[in-house]
Amino acid sequence: MEKKRILSGIQPTGNLHIGRYFGAVENWVKLQETYNSIYCVVDYHAITMPYNPVKLKENVWELIYNLLACGIKYENLFIQSKVPEHTELGWILGCMCSYGELSRMTQFKDKSEQIKDKSKDVFISSGLFTYPVLQAADILIYKADFVPVGKDQDQHLELTRNIAQKFNSSVGKEYFIAPEAMYTETPKIMSTADPAKKMSASMGDKHNINIFAPVDQIRKQIRSAVTDTGEKTETMSPGVENLFMILKACNKNENYNSLLNEYRDGTLQYGKFKDAVADAIIELVEPIQKNKSEIIQDTKEVKNKIKQSSAAIRERASQTLNEVRALTGLG
Ligand code: AMP
Ligand code: TRP
Repeated sequence: MEKKRILSGIQPTGNLHIGRYFGAVENWVKLQETYNSIYCVVDYHAITMPYNPVKLKENVWELIYNLLACGIKYENLFIQSKVPEHTELGWILGCMCSYGELSRMTQFKDKSEQIKDKSKDVFISSGLFTYPVLQAADILIYKADFVPVGKDQDQHLELTRNIAQKFNSSVGKEYFIAPEAMYTETPKIMSTADPAKKMSASMGDKHNINIFAPVDQIRKQIRSAVTDTGEKTETMSPGVENLFMILKACNKNENYNSLLNEYRDGTLQYGKFKDAVADAIIELVEPIQKNKSEIIQDTKEVKNKIKQSSAAIRERASQTLNEVRALTGLG
């Protein structure tokens, strides 16, 4: 039987932190075994927000090295802008998606708020508004069955399914597959510096633990993680809960269980607990960091390989686009 298809995307912005790793990338690596999976670094999406072109290019390649170091295979990884067919399909699909539907997207509302807060010189681009249509094109162009993403992408996936149906009914053929989201077991990892907020790259370095940070820095960040006052309370504080979640995500089940028992008995020493969490993260990141140092020995070779994989993946996209053009009366 032919393998089911997977597509996912990640923005070339900020650090590859443990939230992104446990919430997405670790799962992507595993899925490569059982699915026909491809992953793209979405640089067209990155330009929907104010950005610096030189920095963008650097970020794209940095993220490519990082994803490869985590275990994504060369042949499964590509750069979105090396497959311009995504934008053409995006245009066609945009004409099948209403203004009203796009106005309801919460990511658009959140990001426009962020821009408004910044300065008078920046504006909300129409690209930010149509961002979800391009995302739908990313997914539909490869006829992906599943899309591994975090819960925050639910609304975009729902829109993708609606667009697929709209397309099918307007051309009178069940052409696109309505894709489904695939979630990881790890729910949201919170910032260790402010456990009320999601760990994210955009909040600044203090708020995320970068997989590629020097291990001393990681230890320091965990040592200064917010916990609780030490007084016994009915429920676990968000900070302590987050540290337990990280320990579990690192697959340290034995440690997790015994430390949790100590917590319940009221005997848990937070210094020891934090050391255990820091050790677990460091054990996880060390081999990944070692992989990266090998990968960046020859960046020219890496770039060539990614250009090749992007070209091979482009063939698939281009076939879909030809069919779409024929179905929609274009060209
Ligand atoms: P982003 O960081 O928003 O570009 O998201 C990239 C992927 O990582 C998405 O699938 C997110 O759902 C996931 N992700 C990002 N931050 C976290 C977090 N703190 N906890 C869990 N998953 C996350
Ligand atoms: N919007 C996604 C995010 O913010 C990134 C993305 C772009 C994506 N295109 C995609 C995710 C296609 C899955 C499939 O994380």
